[in-house]
Amino acid sequence: MITVSFVCLGNICRSPMAELIFKHVMKERGLEHSFDIKSFGTSNEEEGNPIYPPAKRALRAHGIEGEHIARQICLKDVIDSDYILVMTSSNLMDILRLTGGEFGNKIFKLCSFTSAPRDVADPWYTGDFERAFVDIYDGINCFLEYILKEKKHALDYDARH
Ligand code: 4NP
Repeated sequence: MITVSFVCLGNICRSPMAELIFKHVMKERGLEHSFDIKSFGTSNEEEGNPIYPPAKRALRAHGIEGEHIARQICLKDVIDSDYILVMTSSNLMDILRLTGGEFGNKIFKLCSFTSAPRDVADPWYTGDFERAFVDIYDGINCFLEYILKEKKHALDYDARH
């Protein structure tokens, strides 16, 4: 089992979108039992709130449904995750501040796995949730390719047990 945690600022737009897209893609590929998939915010501002309706609509437009309640990440969540996939450089700095600079080897920007490393576009001020979806979907597919190469043995083991 590989634990993957997606992280953005509020945990009501980008990271819950990433969580639900990743769950969807894993199901399509029959890999859902190999991953524990979560999402968190670096801030506590949206704690307890559901997915922001425009983010939900963007997911639904691609046939993806699901719920999530926002939660701020804590040190234990970092320790318990195999991969922390953040949306932006600013998220990365916030997590390193939380951990005192530790665990940097498991914290990655989601789109650093793509052929065009970048921050995931922030839809909060632009309202462009489709662009965020495209960035996240690209990042997830490239991350999955990386995992399938790096962790093939662990996934094969999960498939057999
Ligand atoms: P998220 O979106 O980090 O993708 O969940 C945001 C949510 C709230 C705010 C900014 C971004 N905000 O400034 O309140």
